[in-house]
Amino acid sequence: MYVTYNTELEDAVEEVNGDQLLAKLRQALGANAVLSGNDLPERNRTDWSFLPSAAPLAVVRPATTEDVATALKLCHEAGVVVTPQGGLTGLCGGARPLDGGIALSLERMHGIEAIDPVGMTITVRAGTPLEVIQKAADEAGLFFSLDLGARGSCAIGGNLSTNAGGNRVIRYGMARDLVLGLEVVTMDGTVLTMMNRMIKNNAGYDLKQLFLGSEGTLGVITRTVLRLHPKPGCVQAALCVVTGYDQVLALLESARRALGPLLSAFEVMWADYWTLYADHVPGARPPVALGNGSHVVLIEMQGLDEMIDGGRFSAWLEGMFEQGAVVDGAVSRSVADLQAFWKTRDAAAEFANPEVAGPHISFDVGLPVGRMDEFASRSSTALTEALGCRSVYYGHVGDGNLHVVAWVKGAAPQPLPAVSEVVYRIVRELGGTVSAEHGIGTLKKPYLGYSRSPVEIDLMRRLKSCLDPKGLLNPGKVFD
Ligand code: FAD
Ligand code: LAC
Ligand code: ZN
Repeated sequence: MYVTYNTELEDAVEEVNGDQLLAKLRQALGANAVLSGNDLPERNRTDWSFLPSAAPLAVVRPATTEDVATALKLCHEAGVVVTPQGGLTGLCGGARPLDGGIALSLERMHGIEAIDPVGMTITVRAGTPLEVIQKAADEAGLFFSLDLGARGSCAIGGNLSTNAGGNRVIRYGMARDLVLGLEVVTMDGTVLTMMNRMIKNNAGYDLKQLFLGSEGTLGVITRTVLRLHPKPGCVQAALCVVTGYDQVLALLESARRALGPLLSAFEVMWADYWTLYADHVPGARPPVALGNGSHVVLIEMQGLDEMIDGGRFSAWLEGMFEQGAVVDGAVSRSVADLQAFWKTRDAAAEFANPEVAGPHISFDVGLPVGRMDEFASRSSTALTEALGCRSVYYGHVGDGNLHVVAWVKGAAPQPLPAVSEVVYRIVRELGGTVSAEHGIGTLKKPYLGYSRSPVEIDLMRRLKSCLDPKGLLNPGKVFD
C-alpha cells in the first residue's frame, strides 16, 4: 500500500493498492514496460535540476499512443499521480516524479514517421531525441532549426512541453513556432489527434497551443508534426571580442540591419563566463583570447550562397573591425571552425563538473536587451556581497534571454531560495521575466507571480482543472 496525492500535495487523499495498479499496468502494457523495486532506473528519479532523487512507485515505459492512453486511464481510475518524462534534461524539476507516483517515460516511443519534402514537415514520435530529428532533416536536404546544448539527450516531447528556445530563436522562433500538429493524451486517457500539416488552419481554437510549454501538466504529448526549413547553403560564424556592452548592442543592431534574415544566432558570453570556460573546462581550446575584453559574441549567419551571402558576412565583419566595434576576433573558414566556435558556448553544459563550478543554480531570465549588462553587474555584486556566491553570465542576447550560473563552492544543498530572491528581485526591478525558456517546474514556482498576474494564474488553474479535474497529471509543477 502506498499514498497518492491530489492537488493538495501534502494531503494524502487516498490509499491505493500499488501492487494492484502495477499488475494491471503490466498486464495491459507488458511486463518490460513497468519497472519497479530494484529494476527502477536511478536516472528516472530526478532531472538536471540537482533536486534530490524521488521515490516513485514505478517507471512506466509505453510503446504506443494506445499504451499511454491505457496507462493514464488506469492511473486516473486509481487516483495515482503521473509525471511525464522525456530526456530528463529539464533544469527546473518539471520531470522529477513524486514519491509514490508513476514516472511515465516516453523513451520507447521514438523514431521518425515521415518526412514531407514538399510540405516541409517531419512527423516524429515524442521520445525522439532532438539530434536524431536534426540529422533526419539534414539527410533529407532540409533543416530543423531547434537547437540547444542538450540536443543529444533531450527528447522532442520535452522540448515542446517546455517550449524550448535555444540557439536559433532569433531567426526561426521557439519550439512552439515549429509545431504544426500534435497528438496528446489527457489524464483520463482521451487521445486528441491534431496532426495538422498545414501552416494555416484557423478552424476554431488552436488547441495544441495549450499543451506547448505547459510542462506536462495538461496532457502527454505522443507525436508531432514539425516545420522544416530549407537547408542553408552556407553557414559562417564569428567570435568577436568587444570591450563594453555598448559594443555588444552596436554589433546586434548592425548585424540585424546588414544581415537581415540571414542572422541565425547572436550569443554573448560575459568575461566571467569566458574565463571560467577557458581556465577550467577540461580540454578547452578558446579560439580567441579575451585580453581586456568584456564580452565574447558568437554571431552566426546562415545563407544560401557562399559567394553572395558569405561575402556579405565577411564585408560586414571587416567593417565592424575597421570601426573598432570589435577588438579581436575569429571568422570560421571550415565546418571544424564552426564546431570549435560553438563548443565555447556549449561548454555551459560542463559547468556542473566539479573541476569547473560543480553543483550550481541556473537561471534563464528574460530582460530588455539594453539592460542585460546592468542586470549582470548588479546581480554579480549582490550575490557576492550577500551570500559569498560566485556567478557567471551568458545567453541568447538577441532574444533578450540571459543565463546566470550561480554557486557557493562546496555548499550542499546550494542556497536556492536566497540566491533566487536576489536574482529575481533585480529581474523584477528591470521589468524582466523569471523564465525565458526553461519553464517553471518546481524551482521557480514561488516566483511565477513576479511575471504573471493573479488573473493569469487563476485562468491557468481553471484550465488545469478543466483538463485534469482530479489534479493527477504532474501536480505541483508550475503552480500549486
Ligand atoms: P524533460 O526534462 O524530460 O521534461 C521537461 C518537462 O516536460 C517536464 O515538465 C516533463 O514533465 C515534461 N515532459 C517531457 N516529455 C513530455 C511529454 N512527452 N508530454 C508531456 N510532457 C512532457 N532549454 C532551452 O529552452 N534552451 C536551451 O538552450 C537549453 N539548453 C540546455 C542545455 C543543457 C546542457 C541542458 C541540460 C538543458 C538545456 N535546456 C535548454 C533545458 C531543457 O528544457 C531542454 O534540455 C529540453 O527542452 C528538455 O527536454 P527533455 O526531453 O529533457 O525534457
Ligand atoms: C543554455 C541553456 C542553459 O542556453 O539554456 O546553455
Ligand atoms: Zn539557453
